[in-house]
Amino acid sequence: MTKIFRERKSSGMRLRFIHKRKALVTFLLLLMAAGALLAQTSPHGRVVYLSYEDAKPILEAEAEILPQELKGRSPSELALDWPKWVARHDAEIRARLAQGDEDTLVNFLLFGMSYTRQPRITQKQIQQIGQQQNGAVAANNPALANLASSLQSRADDLIRAMAAPGNNDRLLFARRLLVEQKGFRLDTTEGREKAKAYLIASVVRVLGEFNNYARILEAARVEGASEEFIQRSSLFRTRGLSSDTSLLPNYALEEALKAIQSRGLLTAGSVRRVAIIGPGLDFTDKQEGYDFYPQQSIQPFAIIDSLARLGLARADAMRVTTFDLSPRVNDHLQRARQRAQRGQAYVLQLPYDTQAQWKTDAVHYWERFGDRIGSPLAPIATPSGVTALKVRAVRVRPAIASMITPMDLNIVLQRLDAPQSERFDLIIATNILVYYDTFEQSLAMANIERMLRPGGFLLSNNALLELPFSRLHSVDYSTVVYSDRPGDGDHIVWYQRAAD
Ligand SMILES: C[S@@+](CC[C@H](N)C(=O)[O-])C[C@H]1O[C@@H](n2cnc3c(N)ncnc32)[C@H](O)[C@@H]1O
Repeated sequence: MTKIFRERKSSGMRLRFIHKRKALVTFLLLLMAAGALLAQTSPHGRVVYLSYEDAKPILEAEAEILPQELKGRSPSELALDWPKWVARHDAEIRARLAQGDEDTLVNFLLFGMSYTRQPRITQKQIQQIGQQQNGAVAANNPALANLASSLQSRADDLIRAMAAPGNNDRLLFARRLLVEQKGFRLDTTEGREKAKAYLIASVVRVLGEFNNYARILEAARVEGASEEFIQRSSLFRTRGLSSDTSLLPNYALEEALKAIQSRGLLTAGSVRRVAIIGPGLDFTDKQEGYDFYPQQSIQPFAIIDSLARLGLARADAMRVTTFDLSPRVNDHLQRARQRAQRGQAYVLQLPYDTQAQWKTDAVHYWERFGDRIGSPLAPIATPSGVTALKVRAVRVRPAIASMITPMDLNIVLQRLDAPQSERFDLIIATNILVYYDTFEQSLAMANIERMLRPGGFLLSNNALLELPFSRLHSVDYSTVVYSDRPGDGDHIVWYQRAAD
């Protein structure tokens, strides 16, 4: 019998599994077949798929979390089908990127400023639309009528701009999605009308989804903070894979690293190899992201900055590998690395919306960001009419940008197979495992475990299932509140890998 239970510890919430191990069965030939599905190599290891042997304890642990197609199968059937299932599921996960791109386009439509004079849609307005979908707000509400007309104008402006995108990479992305992938024509009135109807329908879909997420969290909140955190940790399991990113989760990570250091769990200079799973790309995030500066990745630079500031690593003696399955993210980081190798700096723009009521310590993080990896420079001017926004810019030294190696890897099903001496001291995974269900998260944990050195840490803002046979266990967690807005903050759970 196997049973899942949740355990509250003095140090925080924990999810646990109790199970009775079944007899071990080896399927060497099939394992070799699975291991042969080689995806990519680097000087420090090669990317391999998770083998049946590595997944077997998870497959046997609890039928409840298995996907339908793997339920009720004998070990020999599972072993036989594993390589095929892995290849198929890898393709299914990667296909979710297309849906995530559509969600990114919705954010661009709601919050973009580069193609329109219409004001950005605010969080408050979004909540109002959500309530209207519930029938809680009268349909003839004048504020909502204004909003609807503003959205229509935004859609018209975006379509007009997409028809002549120049070299604006966000518009080029939007055009590729609408014209090449969705087949809309922007050169006829009928085509533009259809494209507009699609954009508005996408907004309604995304807002409906968010309304639904809010309801799930509200229901969980009634059962307590732990239940809410558990629900939040796989909230986006059926959503498209988005690449959006923002600054403040990195502030929560710096605070977590500081706390880990103060407990003596990581010591000065002990971090040399770092992996960042899902570094993301700031396109037009729904909160602090804007589109008046070039797209940028923030997290790899933020982590190097924090580790150097805390003395946990030397900025010139670190190796940072990013793992992502998004070609857009990987290409962006690859190009940044190539430019850095030619001596060009990476420039980061750091917006701070003073209306967002950040806590003083969050503002201090924003102010110090980048002082260990570069120097300040004049930021890009904010668009006219934007008064509440402050922007800092940091010119990151080429030596820092060139120490980042991007790799294509799907953390649910793949890992870097590297010698023990090459294993990571620290792995970061924020706002990525939330896109997966408990089974997929457990597979990702198995991959992460094998890439960490004994004593190394995984820092994630999700509560992950701790299987008894896993060597990864939560040691503690830290909580950082970003602002006075409800729920605006992160719990960072510290998972440490035990010795072999
Ligand atoms: C929402 S962004 C989060 C970015 C950043 N970590 C942060 O906290 O702001 C999620 C990132 O994870 C990547 N991602 C999603 N699923 C992944 C997977 N299975 N393996 C690797 N990367 C994945 C996405 O492409 C994207 O770059």
